[in-house]
Amino acid sequence: MDDLEGVVWPPEPIRTERLVLRVPEARDRATFIDLHASPEVHTYLGGARARDELERLVPEEPEGWPGNFVVELDGAMIGQVLLRRATGHQRPAADGKADLGYLFLPQAWGRGYATEACTAALDWLAGELPGEPVVLTTQSANLGSMRLAEKLGFVEVERFEAWDAEQWLGMRAPVR
Ligand SMILES: CC(C)(COP(=O)(O)OP(=O)(O)OC[C@H]1O[C@@H](n2cnc3c(N)ncnc32)[C@H](O)[C@@H]1OP(=O)(O)O)[C@@H](O)C(=O)NCCC(=O)NCCS
Repeated sequence: MDDLEGVVWPPEPIRTERLVLRVPEARDRATFIDLHASPEVHTYLGGARARDELERLVPEEPEGWPGNFVVELDGAMIGQVLLRRATGHQRPAADGKADLGYLFLPQAWGRGYATEACTAALDWLAGELPGEPVVLTTQSANLGSMRLAEKLGFVEVERFEAWDAEQWLGMRAPVR
């Protein structure tokens, strides 16, 4: 994956009805570690990372690359929405396209926060890079993620085997 180029970064915080999307800050570190050490969050992402390894490796000041949004609810981080440029993707249809990823703390699931945050991030991208299609890869067994992809307007391009599971590649046509 490469960084998105040609976008204004850092952006002003993006406010939705219930959430704020903003760049990562030092105060997010503990939640970032919780998110990446959670076996539940990583069920379909190849397994969580060891907490002690994360405690050693995660910097005190976060890396803020374009498209790396922290999602905040009532002043605290609940997840991440990531937009990057897919490079070296396993599927030619995705290579070079903007690529959406998302992870939320389990206690924030089931309330529509991921839909709300991803919609805002996709709107932001459409404003920054008009006409960009967006791709998304998720395990087809990840039903919550599959439902979210559908709600966001992604349609199936193909399914393929990788990382020991069936993967679903979806694409969202540019909003005109
Ligand atoms: C994938 C993931 C982000 C989905 O989270 P989620 O909370 O299920 O996502 P949504 O925002 O779609 O919300 C789900 C439910 O909230 C419900 N909901 C409750 N209140 C709501 C509200 N006010 N507005 C909208 N939906 C609401 C919806 O009905 C929806 O359920 P449905 O899809 O069965 O209709 C989450 O499971 C996750 O972080 N998983 C781990 C990381 C991962 O696997 N990422 C995929 C990598 S590509």
